[in-house]
Amino acid sequence: MNPKQVFLSVLLFGAAGLLLFMYLQVWIEEQPTGRTEKKREKGTSVTTGKIQEHITNQNSEVHMPEDLNKKTGNPINLGRPTRVLKKSSYSLGENRAHRSIGTHQGAEPIETNWPLVTQPLNTSSVQGHRWQKAGATQEKRRSFLHEFCKKYGGVNDPQSNIFRMVSRIYVEDKHKILYCEVPKAGCSNWKRVLMVLNGLASSVYNISHGTVHYGKHLKTLNSFDLKGIYMRLNTYTKVVFVRDPMERLVSAFRDKFEHPNSYYHPVFGKAIIKKYRPNVYAETLNNGSGVKFKEFVYYLLDAHRPVGMDIHWERVSKLCYPCLINYNFVGKFESLEEDANYFLQLIGAPKELKFPDFKDRHSSDERTSAQVVRRYLKDLSRAERQLLYDFYHLDYLMFNYTTPHL
Ligand SMILES: *[C@@H]1O[C@H](CO)[C@@H](O)[C@H](O)[C@H]1NC(C)=O
Ligand SMILES: *[C@@H]1O[C@H](CO)[C@@H](O)[C@H](O)[C@H]1NC(C)=O
Ligand SMILES: *[C@@H]1O[C@H](CO)[C@@H](O)[C@H](O)[C@H]1NC(C)=O
Ligand SMILES: *[C@@H]1O[C@H](CO)[C@@H](O)[C@H](O)[C@H]1NC(C)=O
Repeated sequence: MNPKQVFLSVLLFGAAGLLLFMYLQVWIEEQPTGRTEKKREKGTSVTTGKIQEHITNQNSEVHMPEDLNKKTGNPINLGRPTRVLKKSSYSLGENRAHRSIGTHQGAEPIETNWPLVTQPLNTSSVQGHRWQKAGATQEKRRSFLHEFCKKYGGVNDPQSNIFRMVSRIYVEDKHKILYCEVPKAGCSNWKRVLMVLNGLASSVYNISHGTVHYGKHLKTLNSFDLKGIYMRLNTYTKVVFVRDPMERLVSAFRDKFEHPNSYYHPVFGKAIIKKYRPNVYAETLNNGSGVKFKEFVYYLLDAHRPVGMDIHWERVSKLCYPCLINYNFVGKFESLEEDANYFLQLIGAPKELKFPDFKDRHSSDERTSAQVVRRYLKDLSRAERQLLYDFYHLDYLMFNYTTPHL
């Protein structure tokens, strides 16, 4: 090579390096840190305790009324800007979590900053053949999830702090249960059962929907201090109930948009119609009623959503952190009663307590079955269906749900 060629190659390498650097910079900036979403969501301010119940953690930082925020007593939980660069991403809370694990287990702080103890289910209270199959199914599901999490490194979210991660987990101290709430997967009836177990009610049949969700009877795990949180995570039976992602989504859509709703229509419906329906002339005509499934899906898949996410359609991977919280029991909505009653046996619930099978809202509606889901998905193009599956792909993978043919 003559000097000219050498010079040119050096120049080329330099330029390539610069391009790569710029690309990485942009890539880092664009990681879903929730930052941009937060900025957008600041626009909406909704301030009732009832509404607070429904919003995911991320959004609750924005929507939560001042006084409620104070009551959580957790300063690191509040509106902390999330950064993707790892070094600066560790909040005070996470550092404390590190130390706490170190002392708790007498081990070096681990990379995952989480106590990853896998405890087998204690099946000693269940005898006989009746529950053998249910027990084997649990074993399979747990090891499946565990294997998946081992392979898939990217599930741990370094931006999350422990209080946020456990904010959807309900605590039942008498029987030592931690239940992670997944809406549209039997959660109302689970909360009723927990209330009965806890002595807060005498029968699951006497607790209204309102009392279940807005009664503030059951504590969530984030209302305890770090020591209380770790103690429970390490010693309680942790349970989550999941459902086929598309069935859950369609079920949420039908529940929230196909019936009068004084929150979802004005807050979500209005914004969705305004952004995704062509020719909405007068603002006054748009009261947020009559959102179409397709419009709802546009909102869900939009990188610039006009309103934030909501627990009813948020992914289980983001509600319950299944790769960080080692759930002992993974129940499925598809086998809800069998799984639930096996669980009640395991934790030594009173014999007369059975999992209720009623649907307390819109009970005359057809249940959201695979057939119903197909009807809704027909309104979408193939590409839109693919994007929707991509959106929920972690939930599909973690819980071994099969993605249907597109
Ligand atoms: C399992 O539960 C029983 C009580 O139901 C208890 O006596 C036993 O010590 C537990 N076993 C383990 C390994 O925790
Ligand atoms: C996963 O799903 C497939 C298909 O439904 C099933 O054959 C297999 O047994 C499941 N695996 C586990 C671990 O549940
Ligand atoms: C529900 O409560 C009412 C009174 O509040 C009572 O008469 C009834 O027996 C209760 N039902 C059950 C199933 O506990
Ligand atoms: C909302 O507007 C539609 C017409 O666009 C109307 O049929 C419906 O009754 C309205 N709902 C409410 C709650 O006002």
